Amino acid sequence: MDKSNIKARIEQLRNLLHHHNYQYYVLAQPQITDFEYDILLNDLITLEKNNPEFNDPNSPTQRVGSDINKEFTQVIHKYPMLSLGNTYSIEEIIDFDTRVRKALPDDTIEYVCELKYDGVAIGLTYKNGFLVQAVTRGDGTQGDDVTNNVKTIKSIPLKLSGNNYPSEFEIRGEIFLPHSSFEKMNAEKEAAGEPLFANPRNAAAGTLKQQKSSIVANRPLDCFLYFVLGNNLPYNSHYENLMAAKTWGFKIPYYITKCNNIDEISDFITIWDKKRNELPFDIDGVVIKVNSYLQQEELGFTAKSPRWAISYKFKAEQARTKLLSIDYQVGRTGAVTPVANLEPVLLAGTTVKRASLHNSDQIKLLEIHENDFVFVEKGGEIIPKIVGVDQKTRDINTMPIEFITHCPECGSKLERNEGEAKHYCPNVYSCPPQIKGRIEHFVSRKAMNIGGAEATIEALFEKGLIHNSADLYYLTKEQILLVDRFAEKSATNLIESIEESKKVPFQRVLFGLGIRFVGETVAKTLANHFKSIENIKNASIEQLTSVQEIGDRIAISIIEYFKDDKNLEILERLKNAGIQLEVAQFENNNLFNKLNGKTFVISGTFENHSREELKDLIEKYGGKNTGSISKNTNFLLAGENIGPSKLEKVQELKIPIITEDDFLNMIKD
Ligand code: IVH
Repeated sequence: MDKSNIKARIEQLRNLLHHHNYQYYVLAQPQITDFEYDILLNDLITLEKNNPEFNDPNSPTQRVGSDINKEFTQVIHKYPMLSLGNTYSIEEIIDFDTRVRKALPDDTIEYVCELKYDGVAIGLTYKNGFLVQAVTRGDGTQGDDVTNNVKTIKSIPLKLSGNNYPSEFEIRGEIFLPHSSFEKMNAEKEAAGEPLFANPRNAAAGTLKQQKSSIVANRPLDCFLYFVLGNNLPYNSHYENLMAAKTWGFKIPYYITKCNNIDEISDFITIWDKKRNELPFDIDGVVIKVNSYLQQEELGFTAKSPRWAISYKFKAEQARTKLLSIDYQVGRTGAVTPVANLEPVLLAGTTVKRASLHNSDQIKLLEIHENDFVFVEKGGEIIPKIVGVDQKTRDINTMPIEFITHCPECGSKLERNEGEAKHYCPNVYSCPPQIKGRIEHFVSRKAMNIGGAEATIEALFEKGLIHNSADLYYLTKEQILLVDRFAEKSATNLIESIEESKKVPFQRVLFGLGIRFVGETVAKTLANHFKSIENIKNASIEQLTSVQEIGDRIAISIIEYFKDDKNLEILERLKNAGIQLEVAQFENNNLFNKLNGKTFVISGTFENHSREELKDLIEKYGGKNTGSISKNTNFLLAGENIGPSKLEKVQELKIPIITEDDFLNMIKD
């Protein structure tokens, strides 16, 4: 065969394999046998191997994965990956519907009901019909680039069919592991003596994070796509675009229904609450979305989730089992959490062996005795909780469980502050899990993001190499090499990652310090207001509480933190190591404070910028962006098609309406 014939044959084989993949994995309607499929695939593999100039990253052969071990690159989401508000009753759905209708008084509303898949969220970007990137949710703003792993999932098209897809768009969905695959995988793990996955969601998440895509290729992940995003979508509504996406080759939800009122929504929920156990995969509820994009725009977003969609979570199933013993875990703040060890029991498709008991009050409230039979339920958290005790089957000779009085890790007498539910170990500086916990928090992704260090802290601590976060910056490669799991390359990587963390902005460093009650948002507020650690340290309680969102509890905790010489010593060493302990100069510049104290509401569509870009600009220049108009709103930044109810409200409150150009002028140098 000459080269042009080879090229043509390769293309023919690729098209054939793409087509049969779609028939098999998306439509579940195979047209050829597995044997015939393998012949085609092997043919293509051989041709590609002998003619590497025709290689294509989206060839069906690329689904077999690779053995290359590499860390994932972080990718910033073009559109943030938000979560959904949860509801647990029809009444709350009625409230949601009322809110929607109130915001859109003149409109007819069409809802779309879908199943809520319990897997791992993924965003897939397609350019000119080819899959170019797959990114996990991460923290909603940025996630891991897992493209190579996702390419091994057969129901995800590498190349699109049809022709009316936009040249560039993103489609989001949920990657999951069907029950049968989950059971098979755990059976294999058990045979190999490896720890089992707790549930299919964890197994899917663990698989997707595998460094070697060849391993992923051997685990039959699947994916439903439920959300199309982009500028040139063929329709102005969710359902219609999903149906279009189906013709492009995507596996979209099988069970999806348009509903016009609460009764229809309620029927959908009732049916799936009953039938959910018949599905071959896990769902944990139903998602209800407003269909029209124009109405979605009008409804907008809260800080965390869209106002145009909501999830209804099914009630947790319960199981009854025997309490074997209780462990007491000590966290980084010294808080002690009781965790029950249980006789393994099957609950909603997975085996439960441990359950949380929260605190001593909860133990008292449940009146739990040794050897009791208890009822467990799965909450939102990974670890299930004990919700009740089977009093009827209690052995009368057993004693009620008494909460421990001393720390199980270091033996210190536990303390409990008034008004708090938790017991604490006061031995802040010598109790091992507290020391390790603080350093683990410091290196975590949302703080210093020191790659690979989280799992390593334990080993570094055991070797006596680190006692606090500042020690990390004085580690030498020779010291790291003393730790068993490290070799030349991994030690260099750790050192580089530690070095890189010196660029992390002040607000994240502040969060990483682990001051009690100073979470991510509070750290951001404090950094924006005070600009440096020195200023925060010198602030009085009045100065602290004068900042919006900072109350007495946080202020007292901050003052306490700086009273402690050990903390001051750590800060001094962090400073000497070159950590950012103040807001960088360019952020501090007046230029970037142009919108200080100004609150904006964005509505409609704009010519030059997306709403997300405008939002970022507002924040960058020190302003605030909120979802709904109130008397605190300073400007309505209005584009095309802004809703009549919003207009009416700004007029009523006499809030100035500005255009995109007005806004850009406001921030111009
Ligand atoms: S739509 C902006 N539809 O639930 C809203 N999400 O709690 C985009 N999920 O992060 C999400 N099934 O991972 C949507 N049919 C469905 C879903 C679904 C599961 C997940 C998704 C999302 C989370 C929100």
